[in-house]
Amino acid sequence: MPAEFIPVSPFDLVIFGGTGDLAARKLLPALYHRDRDGQLSEDSRIIGVSRRDYSDGEYVQWVADVLAEHLDEPIPDDEVWQRFTGRLGYQSVDVANDTGWSDLADKLGVEPDGRVRVFYLATAAQLYGSIARTLADQGLATESARIVLEKPVGFDEQSARAINDAVGAVFDESRIFRIDHYLGKEAVQNLLALRFGNSMFEPVWNRNHIDHVQITVAEDIGVEERLDFYEQTGALRDMVQNHLLQLLCLVAMEPPASMHYDDIRNEKMKVLRALRPITTENCADVTVRGRYAAGMIDGEPVDAYGADTEADRELEAETFVAIKAELDSWRWRDTPFYLRTGKRMAQKSSKIVFQFKPVPHSIFGDHSLAPNTLTLTLQPEEGVNLKLMTKDPGPGGFHMTSVPLNLSFSDEFDVRYPDSYERLLMEVLRGNPALFMGREEVESAWQWIDQIGAAWRDSRQHTQSYLAGSWGPPDGFLLIDRDGRRWQDE
Ligand code: BG6
Repeated sequence: MPAEFIPVSPFDLVIFGGTGDLAARKLLPALYHRDRDGQLSEDSRIIGVSRRDYSDGEYVQWVADVLAEHLDEPIPDDEVWQRFTGRLGYQSVDVANDTGWSDLADKLGVEPDGRVRVFYLATAAQLYGSIARTLADQGLATESARIVLEKPVGFDEQSARAINDAVGAVFDESRIFRIDHYLGKEAVQNLLALRFGNSMFEPVWNRNHIDHVQITVAEDIGVEERLDFYEQTGALRDMVQNHLLQLLCLVAMEPPASMHYDDIRNEKMKVLRALRPITTENCADVTVRGRYAAGMIDGEPVDAYGADTEADRELEAETFVAIKAELDSWRWRDTPFYLRTGKRMAQKSSKIVFQFKPVPHSIFGDHSLAPNTLTLTLQPEEGVNLKLMTKDPGPGGFHMTSVPLNLSFSDEFDVRYPDSYERLLMEVLRGNPALFMGREEVESAWQWIDQIGAAWRDSRQHTQSYLAGSWGPPDGFLLIDRDGRRWQDE
């Protein structure tokens, strides 16, 4: 049996926000898949918690409906399904009005030895502190209990600290799992495998050989039903503070001593501390904000951001951000990291591109030599691509051409790639926090992001519009063109 399919210890997983969007789209499908592969031990339970007044049976029906919608295969009415639904329970708790807690305590009962209790908070971050406190008051936060916090942890450094203090007063740091689902993506873990499982990369992984790095997380979807949320966060807080900075950390960190979470977090922290601050003085040169206008995606017209809201509402948020980030460290000094993310871009495409320095002298006369690039594609198709110069084949003279060495994971490995939530939930149940964000990381990332937010506010930085279906606003291109470089798009 593959190691990942060995059943985890029996658990009670309590999902706050158990009837919410994340539970429906990600958590319950992930748990169903792991159960189907035999990874959930016999008597483990999954208890949904929300304000809705459901019975256990009504919750099972709700779960059946959402899984039918979100699984990419029909649910067979078989042994697996019976086993999965047999684990489900529901408890109505109104966290804001403090009701239903004792019923939840009754439902959980006394924790038997060896059973792991996990509280997954898929609610608004403002509730994290009070839920943790009440869990303690109710005697539910037992010695071995774990808590999972969905991103975003807070809205800025101050609110993140308040959450971390409140949750940390109840749960030890090793039992707090702050999720950034990008860390559960197969290709992101492959980044670690590639960097630290091969000796050829380390000697060139630095300012002497790498000209610059591009990290792009482009989405073709818009903000959908989340306009109000987006108006409070914008892409800077929603995407850069966590997903892009976490990728940056993994790319730029020094080799950790081991895969132990302390070792990895320490190295990531050094990267965050080395980020050069962006201030009112330089923010116009090194950052770009954009917001999508109406356009076409896949040949279909799509609306502008906020098109269906009240006409007189003044929209604030950016849906696109590009940043030239610099690290003041020996390894990376003068090697910029261009970060870019946006909604309603030309296609869903997340990748990290390392562009190497040109050869010091071309012996091929005027023939142009394209620099080597190493591209890690995170999605939609995971892969690694190394572009090398070779001779153009044939007798027509000595001409150089750039060719890719391609590794497509789906072609190479005939396995189903689990969704990142499947992997991360299993890591929580195994008690391994290596793929989760530490307290200091989250606060340090907010510190850098808060400065950018303040610089934008103080300098009234303009939000440039871009056509839905494009690669972002003109200034997004200028940001990198002006350094004599180009985005490596399709
Ligand atoms: C979430 C953001 O964290 O990540 C969303 O809140 C975004 O706005 C999503 O759409 C992107 O995740 P993925 O896995 O589809 O790239």
